[in-house]
Amino acid sequence: MHKSLEKNLPFLIEEFSSNGTSIDIRWRTILQRFFSDCSLKISTETFAECRINKQHNVLEVPAIMLKHGYILSILNKATRFNNDDIELASSLLKLTRQFISIEEAFEKGASEERLRIARDLHDDVAARMLTLIHTVKDEQTIALSRSILKSLRNSIYTLDNKSTATILDAIIDVRSEIQDRLNSIGMQLLWHQSKNLNGLTFTPRQHINLNRMLHEITTNIIRHANAQFMEVIIDIDQQQITVECSDNGGGFDMQSCVPGKGLNNITTRAQELGGYASWFNLNDPETGENKGSCVRINFSISKTAE
Ligand SMILES: Nc1ncnc2c1ncn2[C@@H]1O[C@H](COP(=O)(O)OP(=O)(O)O)[C@@H](O)[C@H]1O
Ligand SMILES: [Mg+2]
Repeated sequence: MHKSLEKNLPFLIEEFSSNGTSIDIRWRTILQRFFSDCSLKISTETFAECRINKQHNVLEVPAIMLKHGYILSILNKATRFNNDDIELASSLLKLTRQFISIEEAFEKGASEERLRIARDLHDDVAARMLTLIHTVKDEQTIALSRSILKSLRNSIYTLDNKSTATILDAIIDVRSEIQDRLNSIGMQLLWHQSKNLNGLTFTPRQHINLNRMLHEITTNIIRHANAQFMEVIIDIDQQQITVECSDNGGGFDMQSCVPGKGLNNITTRAQELGGYASWFNLNDPETGENKGSCVRINFSISKTAE
């Protein structure tokens, strides 16, 4: 019934490392690859583990982050699932879950490492530069040392800024990334954020997913909207974060447009955070004319969201 794990190892590794794609889409692709003789459907029920039904023609598999499960049904009526299939699906599930925790540990480790480097630079290198400035007599060397110290402080500031996953830090990062991308093509960024974000933090998953969603939204605006500006509004109300990104481009018809990987990934990432993403066009209230499009992302940052 299924394909062997050894033969498909290169595929598995490639799928694991396809970082731009959301976890459950990666998980679904893996299942479809290994159980290519089956149809895959989403179930509203959640499953705690992999199991087969009494008739042995259906294999139920848990999702990774989403609150639903997957149902694999054999297409060829003559064949049946057996214990090997359960074992394979369970191993794949375990591997995928492990991979996700490695990915999260990596993000967390990377920010801790940045913090350590920033601390070393500050306590050691910057302190020595300061001593140097006070000991040397030659004006030119003093000026040079001062300018080195200044750029060092800038680097420390940048490193330190990225070191914690407070929402404010995460937003500074993502904002400057979007700003750079839009600037390079002469587009404007309008930015508004709530004053109530102070002191709140993101889990690594919330941080990663929000960054990647905003990255894709920006890409779409650059590629498809033909707009002069992008506007981002970040608001929070009772631990519900709302991020609204709009543009003043041509807009698009959600009903007739063919959602590609980009829109699908944004939807799945929002769902992974227990929230949702929705798109709508903006219209001029007087003329009814199209003024661009908007995507609204909503998720809760309370503990239960993870
Ligand atoms: N901001 C936007 N303005 C206009 N059209 C858009 C915008 N965002 C998405 N679209 C439309 O939605 C389609 C699907 O987007 P997406 O799923 O990201 O796939 P892709 O970008 O690869 O085409 C795009 O091809 C485009 O027609
Ligand atoms: Mg796209």
